[in-house]
Amino acid sequence: MSNDRIAALRKAVEANPDDVLLRLVLAESLVTAGDIEPALDQYVVLLDQQGLPDDQFVPVGELAAANGRLALLRNLLEAARQKGVVEGTGRLQQLVDEMITERSGVKIKLGPEAETPYDVEAPKETTTFDQVGGMEDIKRVIHRMVILPLSRPELYEKYGRKSGGGVMLYGPPGCGKTLLARATAGECGLPFINVRIEDVMDPYLGVSERNLHAAFERARANAPCVLFLDELDALAFARHKHGGSEARRLVDVLLQELDAIGSENEGLLVLAATNAPWDVDEAMLRPGRFDRVIFVPPPDEPARADILSVLIKDVPADGLELKALAAQTPMFSGADLRALVERGVDRVIDEALTSGGEPPLSMRHLTAALPTVKPSTLDWLHRVRSYIEFANQSERYDDVAAYLRSRDVRRRLS
Ligand SMILES: Nc1ncnc2c1ncn2[C@@H]1O[C@H](COP(=O)(O)OP(=O)(O)O)[C@@H](O)[C@H]1O
Ligand SMILES: [Mg+2]
Repeated sequence: MSNDRIAALRKAVEANPDDVLLRLVLAESLVTAGDIEPALDQYVVLLDQQGLPDDQFVPVGELAAANGRLALLRNLLEAARQKGVVEGTGRLQQLVDEMITERSGVKIKLGPEAETPYDVEAPKETTTFDQVGGMEDIKRVIHRMVILPLSRPELYEKYGRKSGGGVMLYGPPGCGKTLLARATAGECGLPFINVRIEDVMDPYLGVSERNLHAAFERARANAPCVLFLDELDALAFARHKHGGSEARRLVDVLLQELDAIGSENEGLLVLAATNAPWDVDEAMLRPGRFDRVIFVPPPDEPARADILSVLIKDVPADGLELKALAAQTPMFSGADLRALVERGVDRVIDEALTSGGEPPLSMRHLTAALPTVKPSTLDWLHRVRSYIEFANQSERYDDVAAYLRSRDVRRRLS
């Protein structure tokens, strides 16, 4: 990102000092540009404004730790505790401990041998596209990009098209990326190995790298299969470039494992998902690595109706007008819709408890629950729009840009 873009962003922030999303983009852009100290200063302000998103506590903490900012780190920990950022506090506490240990000159001990906790799910237990509501376009893209090269490799060879490389799904949270990855494995009829970030990350020196390597080894031993890296941004964090060498090593290990694809990785399909594509190291997206990138947008109206019908499939219900409900839930994610159905069901249960009967789920329950659920995709879309406008990462986001240009979305976002 060029200096004048950052300058423009800075001006925008000065003019709108309370716009936390804008400030967040400035902070992240500064990090990407390698201006760590000024970036951390922006994070301090964000923390004061209570504008730091929950999922940023740990990454910012890592950055603060790598750059010797103990005070910021402590404030992050304190704020995380108060906000109840469950997954974050443990890691932040660790970072604080490590920093204090380091400063007092005590060596960190080496961790235990890595185990391989990655479950291999048999294909019959996994999800298929039927369980994923809507998303017809994406299913088609996945079919062409992932399933076809796997099932008809000769076709690709004939046209000199390489079928290797990984696929990265990205988009706002709760819109079905994890579900789609699982269903893709199911559609391919392949076992699914889900590598969760908490299975990999370990505070002991070198253990995270070993865990990640073990996951790939496990997958190679089970090939053909699908290896799924959820929350890729946390593993392939661009800001690690400017952080400690320790963090950088994890990115390097991941690159090595991916580059083995094609030789050792015969029959291994690597899928990844992220809510924070802007945090994914550029190197991950080069040919042969995650070279197929798929945007998973919020479900449109027909997709929402479809998702709702998947969600209420096993619920005793009566006279639900799913189309009407879909029309009343613009920009809802699949997860938001699930929350809506769950809250509706809560109301049914309340009713059953007070009346003694067993009423079915009906429109009035869902309509009553509707005001309690807010669409959670808007923040993400605002943020990505700032990235496209200010951070000059637009090539990465062609599909998003097209999505944002559609009239309906423009109206919702303004
Ligand atoms: N297209 C969909 N069809 C059915 N359920 C969905 C869909 N999208 C999201 N959901 C529901 O929302 C939950 C969260 O989706 P998930 O795949 O974890 O989202 P992401 O990985 O994009 O954050 C799913 O477990 C599912 O219950
Ligand atoms: Mg997910």
